[in-house]
Amino acid sequence: MSNFEVVIYEKKDEIGYVTLNRPQALNAYNIQMRDELYQVLEAIEDDPGVKVAIFKGAGDKAFCAGADLTEFLTAPSPVIARQARWERDIWGLLLSITKPLIAALHGYVLGSGIEIALCCDIRVASEDAQFGVPEMGLGIIPAAGGSQTLPRVMGMAPALEVLLTSRWIKAGEAHRLKLVNQVVSRGDLLPTAEGLAGKIKTYDRTAINYAKQAITRGLDLGLERGLGLEANLADYLLTSFVKKATLKSSSWALPAPTDSRAGPPG
Ligand code: COA
Repeated sequence: MSNFEVVIYEKKDEIGYVTLNRPQALNAYNIQMRDELYQVLEAIEDDPGVKVAIFKGAGDKAFCAGADLTEFLTAPSPVIARQARWERDIWGLLLSITKPLIAALHGYVLGSGIEIALCCDIRVASEDAQFGVPEMGLGIIPAAGGSQTLPRVMGMAPALEVLLTSRWIKAGEAHRLKLVNQVVSRGDLLPTAEGLAGKIKTYDRTAINYAKQAITRGLDLGLERGLGLEANLADYLLTSFVKKATLKSSSWALPAPTDSRAGPPG
């Protein structure tokens, strides 16, 4: 993992830390970042040593100032731009991660930056965070899931207003609009995210993953099918719980190694 350049991935005490690392360009999201993030996300999902991950931005000024404008909208043709996007479905992968993801947001959180945050499960912002979906001004629409994730997180009317007006939002309003779960001082940002991660990781990993799935997948199914999903997940969990308990108790009940010379007890 150490050969990455624009993403830093670290692991400590069952928490994966993903740092967008282009501070000189306000952590703007480029193709290299996409490719490195792709590998990091696969590692997070596959590594049993990671139970929860925190996303953050390097430097003082930004979590991420959106797509890299020196790459984006400069592709020789829309066909090549579309091809670059579909080569790797990073957003689909991000949304499919079964482990909880926490975004620690500071400074500029724009365009793809806000969309990365929206793919996370819990968002903590520092007081200096500013959010914006500037796509309208560029004559495009969000293409990293934002048109779908934004209304799911904050509701349709505020999402439409924020998107259609391209109005920037400060941290306090982002909290009122439910875009972020809490706002803390800059110094408390990472400790707060770590506090949440620390609490989550104390719980059974399968229960955590199923709880996440029940909410994130269930919300798109309608109540009846969502309840079905919940019942299935609860059932799997109970079955695996019973299996584990049975295995444990049967290992206690295993007969002691027999000594063929010993006679029956009593
Ligand atoms: N893509 C590529 N480079 C970017 C970038 C982006 N989205 N956002 C910022 N940068 C670069 C700047 O070009 C600048 O590089 P330089 O020092 O080599 O000139 C550096 O990051 C610092 O940005 P700067 O504009 O000087 O900082 P600022 O505090 O004055 O302004 C912003 C910050 C976010 C208001 C401004 O950088 C901006 O509007 N960025 C574009 C946001 C955007 O439209 N994103 C795309 C969404 S789809």
